[in-house]
Amino acid sequence: MFPVRTALRETLTWVDRRVGLSETLGPLARKKSVPIHRHSVWYYLGGMVLFLFFLQVATGILLLFYYRPSAGEAFESVQFLMAEVKFGWLIRSLHAWAANLMIFIAFAHLFSVLLLKAYRPPRELTWITGVLLLFLLLGLGFTGYLLPWNELAFFATRVGTEIPGVLPVVGGFLRTVLRGGEDVTGATLTRFYALHVSVLPGLTFLLIALHVLLVQRHGMSVPMHVEERSHGSRSMPFVPHFLLRDLVGWLTALAVLATLAAFFPAELGVKADPFAPAPEGIRPEWYFMFMFQTLKYLPATILGVEGELVGILAFGLVALVLLVLPFLDRASARGERRSTWRNLALAGLLYVLLLTYLGYRANPAL
Ligand code: HEM
Repeated sequence: MFPVRTALRETLTWVDRRVGLSETLGPLARKKSVPIHRHSVWYYLGGMVLFLFFLQVATGILLLFYYRPSAGEAFESVQFLMAEVKFGWLIRSLHAWAANLMIFIAFAHLFSVLLLKAYRPPRELTWITGVLLLFLLLGLGFTGYLLPWNELAFFATRVGTEIPGVLPVVGGFLRTVLRGGEDVTGATLTRFYALHVSVLPGLTFLLIALHVLLVQRHGMSVPMHVEERSHGSRSMPFVPHFLLRDLVGWLTALAVLATLAAFFPAELGVKADPFAPAPEGIRPEWYFMFMFQTLKYLPATILGVEGELVGILAFGLVALVLLVLPFLDRASARGERRSTWRNLALAGLLYVLLLTYLGYRANPAL
């Protein structure tokens, strides 16, 4: 055992002398510390999303060894992977479950930094890169959903790509670009595949690097009310104390995911038939449900404008407000404690939960 450890250490030293990693990362790691207070638990969420993203990349690469991105072969290749390839079902199920967990935790991360007002100066860009990352994760979820080319995904994508078509002037163009034609076909699958395995993960990688770099540069923020109350706040070193706690969280997440994947493997359903009528109960992934259900409730016209268009514009406006929130909440930037934005965020969260519930009640599983 001992010679192996020595050989390993010597190899690492050899590499480090040439690359100089410990010179650059060493001081950074020693400097970084994490504040300890009663909200510290929220600091684990960002690292958890990071871990799940890397798990997605790893399981996604394994899936690529068997997946075939064409309308004629996609469904069959996934069927083969599930039935014939050793542990293929496990890898696919892990990828599907981890995608859901990652988006759920990214939402929780957003709400926690929003409620703790961690977007206050100088962390405006950390917030903006975060919101863009959430949009990218939603894009990854939307494009990945179609890839097995089953009935549910096919019709849900037809509905999903129809929505931007309502927009005036650019709507028709947007829908055609998304679909690669008039309707959802093999061309849409090829496009979604390209976005899902290269464009979106590439952009996500770059933005994660920027986001984490900014977190590193500014350190972890301390909530205003904790700052006011505490006299000289306590903190713990990031390496190794917080990192080891992070690791425990990641192992727990992996255990939960493995259990979910083993007991509730991802389903495949039946192959998409573009000429068949849309089955009852078509519904999107849970993270789009509140928007889907809102659009359903809207009347055909609102003040002479198409109801769906009003809904889409309203969601676009909310997304924009979310993106530039650090510049809208001027009171927090000045260090004043006001609860306007916090209350708005809580109302928004309640709305999302309620509409998601109503969506599932109105559209039970196929
Ligand atoms: C792929 C998605 C994301 C990854 C991998 C990620 C990663 C991280 C990590 C590792 C941290 C440091 C630990 C922590 O505070 O939890 C962090 C902090 C932060 N994140 Fe994210 N994040 C993501 C998405 C988001 C989103 C959606 C937002 C909200 C818009 C956001 C806003 C922030 C802010 C403001 C901080 C600083 C928190 C503080 O200083 O207290 N991030 N993120």
